[in-house]
Amino acid sequence: MLKEKIAQLLGEVSGLQANDAAELENLRIKYLSKKGIVNELMAAFRDVPAEEKRAIGIQLNELKSALQNKLAELREALATQEDDHSDLDLTRTPYPVSLGTRHPLSIVKNEIIDIFSRLGFSMADGPEVEDDWHVFSSMNFAEDHPARDMQDTFFVEQHPDIVLRTHTSSVQSRVMEHAEPPIRVICPGRVYRNEAISARAHCFFHQVEGLYIDKDVSFTDLKQVLLTFAREMFGPETKIRLRPSYFPFTEPSAEMDISCNICGGKGCSFCKHTGWVEILGCGMVDPNVLEANGIDSKVYKGYAFGMGVERITNLKYQVKDLRLFSENDVRFLDEFMAAN
Ligand code: PHE
Repeated sequence: MLKEKIAQLLGEVSGLQANDAAELENLRIKYLSKKGIVNELMAAFRDVPAEEKRAIGIQLNELKSALQNKLAELREALATQEDDHSDLDLTRTPYPVSLGTRHPLSIVKNEIIDIFSRLGFSMADGPEVEDDWHVFSSMNFAEDHPARDMQDTFFVEQHPDIVLRTHTSSVQSRVMEHAEPPIRVICPGRVYRNEAISARAHCFFHQVEGLYIDKDVSFTDLKQVLLTFAREMFGPETKIRLRPSYFPFTEPSAEMDISCNICGGKGCSFCKHTGWVEILGCGMVDPNVLEANGIDSKVYKGYAFGMGVERITNLKYQVKDLRLFSENDVRFLDEFMAAN
């Protein structure tokens, strides 16, 4: 009896099937678990007469390992089925993809660079940690000029001569040291001033300065370049206005306003109802600066200008709080997706 039962079961093994893990588990429970068929047969095996034990024992072991092999085979087949990605649509667009945006200050800085490079200016770079000479002395700051005061300048500890540059004019000085006129460069970069952080002031910001040195350079050239810049940046209707001012490194010096591009010059809270907003400082390079940097002031003249990138960005995008520029809140940055 037992012999026939085992033979019949053996015959069934090859036809076993499992479509998923649950079915496979059911087979295991049915045949190989504690209360499964194989164990039942083992129990029955105890009553087999001694002379048949050997043959039936072999047969029983054969059944057990056949079942074990079959279940392993089915398990393997199910696993490869799970790895089969044939139902994936590889042509589907992989959205949503979250793309980064360029920082608004970079967008505007690149625009400024673009305009001036079309006007023939090349770019120059210099260190943010600078010596007093390049930031102040070579730029004609008198020894006791208030801009050197601890109030404005970050000094590198124990090195009273090493500062974080307060303006990118230091790069102009570095260019003049080495280059032969004609010189036509713009110097974009980060600058530092020891100011309390608020919506309207920060301890670091960004500037783009320009320098042009050649034999016959006049204030008219400066004005024309700045007018072209203002129109390219803010639109062809933009007007400029120059007001006399003072900088140690330029003489004469001026500050330039543009007609407020938010209200179109009619007057609004941004331009404090004047219709004008200041965007940069400029002037003719002081002969002392040329001489200090090894350029013959009897042969050469030059103009220089410097603007704050944050200021220009505020005008273009009306950012109300300067702190937003350095907090890197993605909700703020995402607003510039389209301007990229
Ligand atoms: N360096 C000046 C500033 O930081 C700007 C400036 C540059 C003015 C060149 C005149 C000429 O405010």
